[in-house]
Amino acid sequence: MDMPIETKEGALMLCAKYQDALRWVIYQIYPRSFMDSNGDGIGDLQGIIQKLDYLKDLGVNAIWLCPCYKSPNDDNGYDISDYRDIMDEFGTMADMEALIDVLHSRGMKLIMDLVPNHTSTAHRWFRESRKDKDNPYSDFYYWFDEKPNDWKSVFRGSAWEFDPVRGQYYLHSFAVSQADLNWDNPAVVKAMQEIVDFWIDKGVDGFRVDVVDMISKDLGAGKNCFGPRLHEFIHALFGRENGKNLFTVGECWVTDTDEMIRHCAAERQELTTLFQFDHIEKCGRSDKFSPKPDTLKTLRDHLLHWQQETEKHDLLNTLFTDNHDQPPMISRIANDREKRYESATCVAAMVYLLKGVPFIYQGQEIGRAAAHYDSIECFNDIETINTYRDFCQTMPEKEALERINFGSRDNARHPMEWDGSENGGFTTGKPWIALHSRYREINVKKDLAAERSVYRFYQALLKLRRENDAFLDGKVEALSSPDDAHMIFTRTLNGEKWAVICNFESEQRIELPFACEKPALSNLGRASMNGVYAPYECAVAKVIAGE
Ligand code: NOJ
Repeated sequence: MDMPIETKEGALMLCAKYQDALRWVIYQIYPRSFMDSNGDGIGDLQGIIQKLDYLKDLGVNAIWLCPCYKSPNDDNGYDISDYRDIMDEFGTMADMEALIDVLHSRGMKLIMDLVPNHTSTAHRWFRESRKDKDNPYSDFYYWFDEKPNDWKSVFRGSAWEFDPVRGQYYLHSFAVSQADLNWDNPAVVKAMQEIVDFWIDKGVDGFRVDVVDMISKDLGAGKNCFGPRLHEFIHALFGRENGKNLFTVGECWVTDTDEMIRHCAAERQELTTLFQFDHIEKCGRSDKFSPKPDTLKTLRDHLLHWQQETEKHDLLNTLFTDNHDQPPMISRIANDREKRYESATCVAAMVYLLKGVPFIYQGQEIGRAAAHYDSIECFNDIETINTYRDFCQTMPEKEALERINFGSRDNARHPMEWDGSENGGFTTGKPWIALHSRYREINVKKDLAAERSVYRFYQALLKLRRENDAFLDGKVEALSSPDDAHMIFTRTLNGEKWAVICNFESEQRIELPFACEKPALSNLGRASMNGVYAPYECAVAKVIAGE
């Protein structure tokens, strides 16, 4: 099949888009666990609508919704069976249209999660494809008579599955029911372009693009990601005329700057920005399920490295520590018990006052910490269950459960803790997954009523950022050196300079080499920037002109 790939060149003004994007503050919602409006124990779109005032008050102006499309839910929506319809549990297309309207009427934006690498095997394309070797969808997926290599699925086991209907193996980089699309087939590119167009026509403002680096592969070279046609494909999706105002953020496991440049330098017309996971992978863990003793120093060093790289190459950075695949960062590298409030607020200042687009994952704004469960029955995630099964082959169950508690994605997927009542204020029914083990201690109602509230700190931080352009476009300069147990940096724009001090785990005296006004933001109510800092204390102030 040789359908041409349509890419419309043109003056797309991506630089203007870049500037605009710096003003976005994006809140990530895992819809299944955010708010249930109809008592079935599963979060839904109407539930999100109910909570928009809460989000607007926080100071966010955009939401990223994890997948809401029709799906059998083997991977909680990342296994899509219809990209143009809404998952039954979440509501209807009318609910989605209502959500888009309500967001826009509040001046907020919507980013959908686009999953271009794979579909559910329940998708019509796969059902057609598996029928035989000669139908319009036969080349939509990777089919082979024999396994062409020994690739492993991210969720454990072989990445190849024999399909008895077609009598061949197909590729699934994730669950057996998530078949990888063959992007070398131009009809796949066109089909995905049409899905993007469908959602642009519905009024969405952007896309988070799931494992975007995997859509081009080189089987001959043994590469299941970053294949030779990757950039051609990304450009085909978003480099068209109707993509010029879209905000696109790729989930992309890049580790070097050149790769980042290839994905999101403005002139390339591919992605607005991307998530790279250097700091996620390296802070407080030696691998996903193994903790490593660590401190905020590691986070600081990774953050500053990427600040320098993105600034040098004029790239837009993302600022985030948590998401639906990652247990809370504060539990790995700070003190989520005695100093939970201080840790959560200090990390927020370290991350969200840097240059880039802030992404706040649901629950971060109340200082949610990692949960802990005594039984594997409390977990639901496919990766978690498969990993636990594998672990139990080589270690005692107790140890396996400890590792799962540490690394499971479900540690980020409990129902949002709205209050301390029976079901955490999330549902009137039975929650689809265990409530957070600490939800009576950490919840929105309690945080808002507390003298020291993480939510209110986030609110004040986002206000400061919004009202002072130095925090958006200002140059970042680090004052702390690698051995220091603190992070100090300044943001400077048009002669206006701000200083940010974040102390780490031990009390210490900190003196700045310049004079500052009284702190405009501080998690422990400091009166001046210089002096003794308590563990995880942070403060932000304007530098006095001329200093
Ligand atoms: C990355 C997503 O963040 C994760 O939740 C999902 O399981 C995989 N991609 C597969 O879509």
